[in-house]
Amino acid sequence: MKKDCDLIIKKIGQLLTLAGEAPKKGREMSNLYIVENAAIASKNGRIISVGEEDKVLSEINLLDNAKEINADNKVVTPGLIDCHTHLVFSGSREEEFYLRIKGEDYLKILRRGGGILSTVDAVRKTNFEDLYNIGIEILNDMLSFGTTTVEIKSGYGLSTEDELKILKVIKRLNEEHPIDVVPTFLGAHAFPKEYKNRKENYINLIIEEMLPAVKEKNLAKFCDIFCGKEVFNLEQSERILDAAKNLGFKLKIHADQLAYNGGAELASKLDAISVSHLEYISDKGIVSMKQKGIVGELLPGSVFFMGKTNYAPARKMINNDVPLTLATNYNPGTCAIKSLPIIMTLTCIYMGMSAEEVIVATTINAACALDLENEIGSLEVGKKSDMVIWDVNNYKQIPYLLGLNLVEKVIKNGILVYRKINFNN
Ligand code: NIG
Repeated sequence: MKKDCDLIIKKIGQLLTLAGEAPKKGREMSNLYIVENAAIASKNGRIISVGEEDKVLSEINLLDNAKEINADNKVVTPGLIDCHTHLVFSGSREEEFYLRIKGEDYLKILRRGGGILSTVDAVRKTNFEDLYNIGIEILNDMLSFGTTTVEIKSGYGLSTEDELKILKVIKRLNEEHPIDVVPTFLGAHAFPKEYKNRKENYINLIIEEMLPAVKEKNLAKFCDIFCGKEVFNLEQSERILDAAKNLGFKLKIHADQLAYNGGAELASKLDAISVSHLEYISDKGIVSMKQKGIVGELLPGSVFFMGKTNYAPARKMINNDVPLTLATNYNPGTCAIKSLPIIMTLTCIYMGMSAEEVIVATTINAACALDLENEIGSLEVGKKSDMVIWDVNNYKQIPYLLGLNLVEKVIKNGILVYRKINFNN
């Protein structure tokens, strides 16, 4: 029997389905499962048929009010997934950007109350509504770059009240904006000024008050931590993450970012779902991630934006079968880039990954880092109808044509939510 269809995209030159087993690792990261001369149909926001156009047309019954989009032989991919951001904040840190260019150290700035702590000052003074409006603007920009799902961390409140305020903003953003938002609690982002000399007390506050409150209000899926020198050491990280795990949170860790600290090994010990940054990961850390199938969340935008060259050893990790994902890490300190296509380009240039690998890393593998691989990340029957139509002849142009926004249309849950306006249309 033919399936009712309320959206069809026809005349697709290259349809990158990204089907198959997830997470993709090693050589599998090079296979995009492309269909040419393709179409894709959906109903009520879910994909009902995908493949060669003749096959799709034979399987569907176009409803009277169905929307038909002609892709004009261009490229269609799954909606991009930004699995690591800190986008709910207020204020701006351009002064710090120029200080770092002059050679100032990121942690030295934090030590004297700048960096993350200056954003904490600003966020504590900003009300819910203003934070929400700032968040909406950022999500609008991300949507225009092809992002249809984004993870957002708290971590600029660092008091129970302010962390909850941020998480409630994240919840409302998810409810109101077309982009799906996945919430992460990051109360262990830095030690707040008032706990500078009472670090144990802050850890107890996180464990005894913040985590239970976040859980009780169901405001976060993941618990993350900034594990590293001058922030949370291995032992403190383990205590907090253990408590989070016992409450039912899934775990993420910022690890080996500014120096090696054994965070990847800790992630393996605790069965975290993903570990981020990893610029200084050890060989032992790579092996432990491979053994546990932990996703490496690489954030080259931050290395680039901080004017450094110590990119994570992506090729070594791929050769060792660690599944990789990429994210913008958009935040006011270490990365002002909101565009995943720009991150793809940086990754190709500085980490030697291929066009195929960076597309896998921003679609199906990013879905895995959010534990959403059954819903998003590939274009398969039953999954969400989240797609990007790119104004390119072939997918290899996406990372190559740096500096242009190549996104022509974005479909989210089967609805056209973004369309580039050109002079002639
Ligand atoms: O991932 N490393 C910790 N957090 C962010 C930076 C946050 C900030 O500087 O405001 C990061 O790079």
